[in-house]
Amino acid sequence: MTIETSPESGPPEAAVTDGTTTTSPTTTEAEPATTLVGTGGEWWRSAVIYQIYPRSFSDSDGDGIGDLPGITARLTALSELGVDAVWLSPFMTSPQHDAGYDVADYCDVDPLFGTLEDFDRLLATAHGLGIRVIVDLVPNHTSWDHAWFREALAAAPGSPERARYMFRDGKGPNGDEMPNNWESVFGGPAWERTTNPDGTPGQWYLHLFDKSQPDLDWENPWVRERFREILRFWLDRGVDGFRVDVAHGLIKEAGLPDYTPPADAGSMGGGVVPVGLEPGIDSDAELDPPTPPYWAQDGVHEIYRDWHDLLAEYEGDRVLCAEAWVEPLTKLARWVRPDEMHQAFNFTYLSAGWSAPELRVVIDTSIAAFSSVGAPSTWVLSNHDVVRHASRLALGADNLQGAGIGPKSPGLPDPVVGLRRARAATSLMLALPGSAYVYQGEELGLPEDIYLPDEARQDPTWFRTHHEKYGRDGCRVPIPWEPQVPSYGFGLEGTSASWLPQPDDWDRFARASQEGVAGSTLELYKLALRLRAERQLGTGVLEWLPGYGENVIAFRNNGVTVIANMGETAVELPVETTPDGILLMSEALTEAALPPDTAIWLA
Ligand code: GLC
Repeated sequence: MTIETSPESGPPEAAVTDGTTTTSPTTTEAEPATTLVGTGGEWWRSAVIYQIYPRSFSDSDGDGIGDLPGITARLTALSELGVDAVWLSPFMTSPQHDAGYDVADYCDVDPLFGTLEDFDRLLATAHGLGIRVIVDLVPNHTSWDHAWFREALAAAPGSPERARYMFRDGKGPNGDEMPNNWESVFGGPAWERTTNPDGTPGQWYLHLFDKSQPDLDWENPWVRERFREILRFWLDRGVDGFRVDVAHGLIKEAGLPDYTPPADAGSMGGGVVPVGLEPGIDSDAELDPPTPPYWAQDGVHEIYRDWHDLLAEYEGDRVLCAEAWVEPLTKLARWVRPDEMHQAFNFTYLSAGWSAPELRVVIDTSIAAFSSVGAPSTWVLSNHDVVRHASRLALGADNLQGAGIGPKSPGLPDPVVGLRRARAATSLMLALPGSAYVYQGEELGLPEDIYLPDEARQDPTWFRTHHEKYGRDGCRVPIPWEPQVPSYGFGLEGTSASWLPQPDDWDRFARASQEGVAGSTLELYKLALRLRAERQLGTGVLEWLPGYGENVIAFRNNGVTVIANMGETAVELPVETTPDGILLMSEALTEAALPPDTAIWLA
């Protein structure tokens, strides 16, 4: 790749060009701001953590569903990619009504995915490669197949067994009405009525998600004790930490009052990006959206303090990462106070649009909010619950978290623009101080699969909304490893089965098609991860660089200058830029200017 520079053109760090004429700097930025992340030597403060969605990663036995031996067989690819850790979505015993987020036995492996011995082998292999392993813990609800719930159903109202869950009598003369008006995250009511042994209608139970996922009652000490045992079970096996599912949902407001969420709230409670927030604001009631009675209740914190202490009993650094859709960030920071969890997913960052002014505020607010409690910020662009960012960043219409996209969605993305933006967005993200999460397949530039056949869709959201919302299947399609072979090599035995069908045109996305190919998305990720490690960007300090214009993100971190152009006109590079000084670019440059939707790292 070559680049021509024009050393005499443009004032240092202050020129804006549309590619033909040089215009005056149009900065709206204040003085350079230097913000610090918390310090400390723990690995998770700066780690790049790769999310494996086991059923879609690699299938060793040809049943069309990925498994633990499949993961183990492919771990070297992740070591070559350069990640520090993997987080495995649930592989525990489950009837799979919500792809494993409905756990029937927390201390065993579902036969679909293998055995506990397979897990031990995976862990040992990962550790041998220097990769840490984080497992998913699902404490808000169990599966309705869990023995605890079966026992609760068999027991009488008011019994200790029923007290493990949220059973309530119905309202109205015959108890026919639901105990309150709460709606399930996946659509429809959050209550299901039971049937008594004599066939008459019985009590109702709460399920914030699918009816196959009854909510536990975390006010009950019995539940707390069981989860301590579960944490110890996995810690004793040697895991490096837990990603905690729905970490904002465990405690419900006393009395379970009725609540109707605002129309613009995402299904998990987040989704309203606080663009107006100023960095450093500690608490601002106006910016604090109303707290739903089932999300972000104060009572959750004592649970995480307890778990913090439990993890601390084990040697070495272990991590608890909260999946908590909580806004604003100043409130989310309460999940990562020094005696609680260590990290929380930054969904405000994920939810931000392709807009430099918005991202600047979110980045500043994130670092300020997390630093104020001594925690690193995390950064994340994709996961198994959201539209992949190679599609999301080019969406032409609002899309609330969890809704997904399909053929009839408005504002479908231009795939070329989407991939270009995704590569720039990742280049920017991986240069930020803190810890970054990467979702399997994004290193291949995978888009959302918009055209999955209706009959293939499996997300409960698709069914519970009566097909109004497509749901999350489009980001869960098994990933391609090799071109021109059955299931793109997802099936290690050469089988063509895959639990969700793969698109016909994914040869070009296959890992083997991109390996060693200059400019491929895979090579871009590898380069970014190598440089990030070498230059210690994860533990660096971010310093904004003014003068590049409103639609440009520009900062320095540990001696690396990062510029991302989110505007519609090219941006002139600093005059001192030489080809040798270019460390990374998300697209090839044709002149001494950074085209729209492109990011660059300079020495
Ligand atoms: C989390 C998981 C999601 C799951 C839900 C219920 O949001 O990431 O996939 O459906 O919790 O467990």
